[in-house]
Amino acid sequence: MDKSVINLALAGFGTVGTGLAKIIKENQDWIERRIGKKLVITRILVRDLSKVRPFIPGPEAVFTDRFQDLLDDQDIDVVVELMGGMDTAFSLIKQSLERRKHVVTANKALLAEMGGELFALAHDRKLGLCYEASVAGGIPIVQTLKDSLAGNRISSITGILNGTANFILSEMTSKGQDFSTALKAAQDLGFAEADPALDVEGVDAAHKLAILIRLAHGADYPFKLLPVNGISKVEAMDISLAAGFGYVLKLIAQVREKSGHLQAGVFPALLPMDHILAKVDGPFNSILLEGNAVGPIMLYGQGAGGLPTGSAVLADIMSLARNGAAVDNTGFRERVLPEADIIEPDLAVSRHYFRMTALDKPGVLSAVSGVMGEHNISIAQAVQKPGPQGRDVPIVFLTHRAQLKAVQSALKVIDDFDFTTAPTVHYRILK
Ligand code: NAP
Ligand code: HSE
Repeated sequence: MDKSVINLALAGFGTVGTGLAKIIKENQDWIERRIGKKLVITRILVRDLSKVRPFIPGPEAVFTDRFQDLLDDQDIDVVVELMGGMDTAFSLIKQSLERRKHVVTANKALLAEMGGELFALAHDRKLGLCYEASVAGGIPIVQTLKDSLAGNRISSITGILNGTANFILSEMTSKGQDFSTALKAAQDLGFAEADPALDVEGVDAAHKLAILIRLAHGADYPFKLLPVNGISKVEAMDISLAAGFGYVLKLIAQVREKSGHLQAGVFPALLPMDHILAKVDGPFNSILLEGNAVGPIMLYGQGAGGLPTGSAVLADIMSLARNGAAVDNTGFRERVLPEADIIEPDLAVSRHYFRMTALDKPGVLSAVSGVMGEHNISIAQAVQKPGPQGRDVPIVFLTHRAQLKAVQSALKVIDDFDFTTAPTVHYRILK
């Protein structure tokens, strides 16, 4: 872009759009010093024109509720999609690329589920489709995988990728807050998705994981095949029981590479309190990865919020302004990435925590340990919480390393016993 002024259209002026506009206004001189160009927001697309906007970027910014106005404006260099959602955002990005405008987006849902077609189009038109803000808010993980670690084969990525879920778990752990109060606070602070089920059911973290898999492994992991479990059913009792054993509960997104095959998923897991990810609290995210040359690397920062996310969006805009578009927006030369070779997720091996609820009567522990033995699962610890005899009590088991599939099948048998009075709660334990 050989111009001294880069015109931006913001599609969306909520938490992230407003955050971005504030940074551009505040740091304009600094930005110009770095890229030698002035960034000007000339159009802003919103849904509701009557809403009072506490912050307005500048006199050049014209608000509209018609996305056609952004497409028709030939002076716009970069369309910055910060609306969220699928269909309208997809149409806007597709048509922007067709009109030869670069695109920057924070929309992980769209890129994870429908990104292939958009990346191919951007590749054909030699345009930027940039998405640093789509994973882990302010943490520069996209650039890190695409550029800084480009020469490495990545054998594992383990991340805390959802600020809302991590905030809720932290509040429940440190303040004993209940789930819905903590979720409401995350929404008020602007961390949550418009539909917070995406955060608490693990779907948002899975969207981000799919994007990281593409960047780290050059492969598309079909989103529908990613196993996803969230935190909506987490009970305070397990947080406190796990703490007694020296563990903390986190929502984990993980991919591991074995001989070219990928094992991936999102699941709540117990981490030992001295695990490097165990102290990642509140809306903070962290990504721990292992490259075959660099070894372990950990990134940490704010995973949500207007300014941290706006910082990542701005980095993409400045990079486009400075360098123009890279054809390989995915980090690889292919127009379309191959599909990932998948290892069945339930073949994963780890330690396990489970809490069964059973009537306190003779024979319970021997029946449960018999089932475990039949499934080749070795129990490392078992603790029964005291309660009145004949009534139901929680019994917690920690196992040695065992295959997930074996544990799931043993738990089905355990839940069918007549002394089991509630479904058994189960979490994997990560080292
Ligand atoms: P938000 O606060 O809900 O803002 C959405 C904005 O888009 C609003 O200005 C809204 O208009 C506008 N909008 C929505 N649908 C529209 C439509 N159909 N037509 C025109 N305008 C429309 O959302 P956000 O939190 O900023 O998130 C935006 C995107 O960034 C999402 O993809 C999200 O996943 C992603 N993201 C968010 C965060 C975060 O911390 N919040 C972090 C990383 C990535 P009105 O103002 O008129 O309602
Ligand atoms: N809702 C997301 C989160 C926003 O809580 O992590 C950042 O992507």
